[in-house]
Amino acid sequence: MTSKTWTVLDLLQWTTAHFKERGVASARLDAECLLAYALGCDRLKLYVDYEKPVEEAERARFRELVKARGRERMPVAYLTGRREFWSLPLAVSPAVLVPRPETECLVEAALPLLGAGTRVLEIGTGSGAIVIALATERPDALFWATDRSSDALSVAQKNAQALVPDVEIRWLEGDLFAPLAGERFDLVVSNPPYVAETERGSLPPELAHEPSGALFGGGEDGADCLRRLVAEAPAHLRPGGRLLLELDPRQLPAISDAAIAAGFDPGATIRDAAGTERALLIGPPDDPERATQPAPLESS
Ligand SMILES: C[S@@+](CC[C@H](N)C(=O)[O-])C[C@H]1O[C@@H](n2cnc3c(N)ncnc32)[C@H](O)[C@@H]1O
Repeated sequence: MTSKTWTVLDLLQWTTAHFKERGVASARLDAECLLAYALGCDRLKLYVDYEKPVEEAERARFRELVKARGRERMPVAYLTGRREFWSLPLAVSPAVLVPRPETECLVEAALPLLGAGTRVLEIGTGSGAIVIALATERPDALFWATDRSSDALSVAQKNAQALVPDVEIRWLEGDLFAPLAGERFDLVVSNPPYVAETERGSLPPELAHEPSGALFGGGEDGADCLRRLVAEAPAHLRPGGRLLLELDPRQLPAISDAAIAAGFDPGATIRDAAGTERALLIGPPDDPERATQPAPLESS
């Protein structure tokens, strides 16, 4: 009895159908990424090799990946250890959030604000996606990046060494601005955790593999971390400095209110490539009267 010969195309077709049955949204793309990874080639090569038989050792490697993706719903990026962001090949591990394409709109919005010597801080850097993208585009700006997870910072530092070895980024561990006492910046950018705990049960199963500290922002609406960032920012911005925050569009009214309460303007919304209101750029108030007034000195 001869065993079946599996070609590249057979494996792609079988796996795509299997992933669809399991409810994986991007079934064909994921099948291609994982097969290319198992074969040690790029995705385009698969198309050239459609009719090529795949050896048992390679199929065994691929089977393990398919199991982890289909049954456990492990994100492809954790299986391959890579994710592209701003056309940069970032290394990722389960210690960091998988960078999302919608976060690129923060990079786009930040770039026009950067020049030589601009002081830029990223809070909650994760894989380093945002700060590294900015550093590749404006290596003459000055960069700081923080995270409260030391494992995430290790991933970010390795990515920076590989992708922007000549740019100095100052990495600091701690809660929001805590490691930056006395420091002020021209731009603070952050994609903080902003999912509400109440949504945990309805999230795609892939998110269960991502660090919960990167997802859940606290408070009924998930916006506690955003509110803390806005409230603490004034002490860390230079005159004219700005705060650029990724958020859930449903949080826009609350964060605009928090911005006004902290003495900023209500913020300008920024849409991602899909047209969703994805970020808020908060700046100095147009109307100085709206700024928080210092408490009057007691008369003697
Ligand atoms: C949504 S992830 C963003 C990661 C990366 N910037 C990106 O856009 O892909 C949020 C990151 O913020 C970090 N974080 C969460 N709360 C924090 C806090 N209070 N202070 C500093 N970092 C925090 C998490 O560890 C995580 O790496």
